[in-house]
Amino acid sequence: MKHALLFLVGLLFSSFCQGTIDERYLDPSLPIDKRVRILMRQMTLEEKVAQLCQYVGLQYGRKDKPIAFESTDPDTLIRSLLESNGIARNISLGKVGACLHVYSVEEANILQMIARTSRLKIPLLIAIDAIHGNCMHRGCTVYPTSIGMASSFNPVLLKEIGRQTAVEMRSSGVHWTFNPNIELARDARWGRVGETFGEDTYLVTQMGTALILGLQGENGFDGSGVLACAKHFVGGGEPAGGINAAPMDMSEQKLRDLYLSPFAEAINKAYVATVMPAHNELNGVPCHANHYLLQEILRNELGFQGFVISDWMDIERLHEMHHYAPSQEEAFRMAVKAGVDMHMQGDGFLEAIVEAVRNKYIPETRIDLAVYKILEAKFRLGLFENPLVDIPASRSLIYTEDHQATALEAARQSIVLLKNDNYLLPLKQGRYKKILVTGPNANSPTIMGDWTTRQPEENVITVLAGIQQQVPDAVIDTVCFSNKIRKMDRSLIKTAAQKAVEADINIVVVGENSERYNSDRTCGENCDRDNLELPTHQQELLEAVYASGKPVILVLLNGRPLSVTWAQQHIPAIVEAWEPGGMGGRAIAEILFGKVNPSGKLPITFPRSVGQIQTVYNHKASQYSRKFALTTTGPLYHFGYGLSYTTFEYGNPVLSKDTIHTNEAVSVSFELANTGLCQGTEIAQLYIQDEYGTVTRPVKELKGFQRITLNPGEKQRVSFLITPDKLAFFTSGKKYEVEPGSFKIMVGASSREQDLKTVSLMVK
Ligand code: BGC
Repeated sequence: MKHALLFLVGLLFSSFCQGTIDERYLDPSLPIDKRVRILMRQMTLEEKVAQLCQYVGLQYGRKDKPIAFESTDPDTLIRSLLESNGIARNISLGKVGACLHVYSVEEANILQMIARTSRLKIPLLIAIDAIHGNCMHRGCTVYPTSIGMASSFNPVLLKEIGRQTAVEMRSSGVHWTFNPNIELARDARWGRVGETFGEDTYLVTQMGTALILGLQGENGFDGSGVLACAKHFVGGGEPAGGINAAPMDMSEQKLRDLYLSPFAEAINKAYVATVMPAHNELNGVPCHANHYLLQEILRNELGFQGFVISDWMDIERLHEMHHYAPSQEEAFRMAVKAGVDMHMQGDGFLEAIVEAVRNKYIPETRIDLAVYKILEAKFRLGLFENPLVDIPASRSLIYTEDHQATALEAARQSIVLLKNDNYLLPLKQGRYKKILVTGPNANSPTIMGDWTTRQPEENVITVLAGIQQQVPDAVIDTVCFSNKIRKMDRSLIKTAAQKAVEADINIVVVGENSERYNSDRTCGENCDRDNLELPTHQQELLEAVYASGKPVILVLLNGRPLSVTWAQQHIPAIVEAWEPGGMGGRAIAEILFGKVNPSGKLPITFPRSVGQIQTVYNHKASQYSRKFALTTTGPLYHFGYGLSYTTFEYGNPVLSKDTIHTNEAVSVSFELANTGLCQGTEIAQLYIQDEYGTVTRPVKELKGFQRITLNPGEKQRVSFLITPDKLAFFTSGKKYEVEPGSFKIMVGASSREQDLKTVSLMVK
């Protein structure tokens, strides 16, 4: 009886509302601001808070019983979903504003059709983690992961990848990516290093900004591209113990000198539409409840105009994990009050926030602010007019030849040659008739990196396939193991060792495994390690093959730096390929056989052992004033380091003026020559040290880089403009300013001392 009564009241209410709907917000000829206001005026408080609620798609977690969106008549499917699926029902009741983890265009269309059945027909904003291409969708282009793209030092190429990714996303019914991850990866144990642009503020800033511009469009999000998300705000990249989400205590100096700049530029140069707080606490206050971070810094200082999305159930964790909020309801309230605008996944948020507004704990104007921005994005995207994707037409925009070509070029530029004794590489075609390719990563989809679904086999060029394509006449033998590195079959090592003796050259492909759908993975989100050696028996394999006495090339596929110290001492050629994506195997083979000259440089320092952590290039002067007792002090490979098949020589740097005032710019120039035998691309780097500061300064900081391609014997004058912002830092006066004094201006091939040439600048 009670239920029937409630149902009747609900029906009366909804028909009353339906009768009175002012549908002018559906008129595309009206300005967006007006449409948003007309719509918001007639939304109930529940409907408004619902816009702040994001849920997983219908397919999420249904590994055993996936829904067959493609093969069922939509009306029948929707009817059955409304009966059986809580999320579908909530969408039709207008209780959901956005979705995530929607894995196909068919699912996206069905979700939008369900949203159309709601009272106000508000479309859903659909989000995905498109981290290096729209890779969570099967059949989309998979580009190299972010750490590889950072090795290219090529923001222009990354911007184009962003543009292409946006096209593929929109063709897949997705409008928003939780990318880029512009945290600084300053602890190699952290499993998420691969989805960042490395350890350096300047490089991360350049790459992150470029990617956002590519994804969203030049002048902020105008609806043509997709919404980007600058994450995670802030400090998750050097968690205590290297473990994801562990606490971060950081001085204001460090926060402002190192961590804020990528976010500041994402906001002020690329107008990023959304920001995601970090899992971790910062100086005792979890980021998701951190008013100082989300309000005072993000909104007031950095001028962020978009909306803040929580990370996966991190608001709940204010209570459960951080023990900061005494109850879950209090956690929801705290997060919204601190500045979170949308809740990612989970129940209870809507009810708790509606109640908090009714009880005047949160003003309704706070909710209105968030709702306005979310609806504005939906209008900009044209979702009220065209929520559905024309599936046959959109297929031709995905995995196009053009996108594949970009993915291949990106893979080529992302690979770093770490060692090449006596020019073992490139391998002369025809010289090595019998080649052994071995290792768990030789024929493994881990080449695709984290944040991708299992892609069609024909879209994955593994290292083995790439080599087979590159040298079709060679006899290629293999011992590939399984890609389950943790369960690596040790007995096969013997076979590999025997075959190595018979081969003319051995290519050992090892590293880590970041495959999201592989329970056996060793790297990626929530795969942190307390050791940086090759996992399980891979070192043993490498040593066994080396013992053959035949030449060995080591190819690494991994998402984080590995302490391959033994290999550096023994193996003549080492290639760091990161996770170069679907075209990766071809790019690696092209480099091994000399079709392409490697040009990548490391965006992160490689420690000799895990015990060296923290090892970053922009450390303070006192860092290595004392040495380790029993082992070598200093990294295995330096930030910015990478070899080429040719050689480059740097001339002495010359300043346009020796002395400047604090508000002046100066340029530094030098001659760069290709002194080797083939064409090559050098990434010339500019580092600066403020020699004496009111706060101690790092020994050097990257402040510029350029990719320069030269023919053998060719020379070019290279110049960098040093503007005051490249000399400024957050001083003891608590502001960004240039302090007068002497500065070291360094140019060269890497951050390593012997690779740099220096000139002095005086600032008055
Ligand atoms: C990650 C985020 C990601 C989200 C949604 C979380 O676990 O920390 O970076 O965007 O999941 O998939």
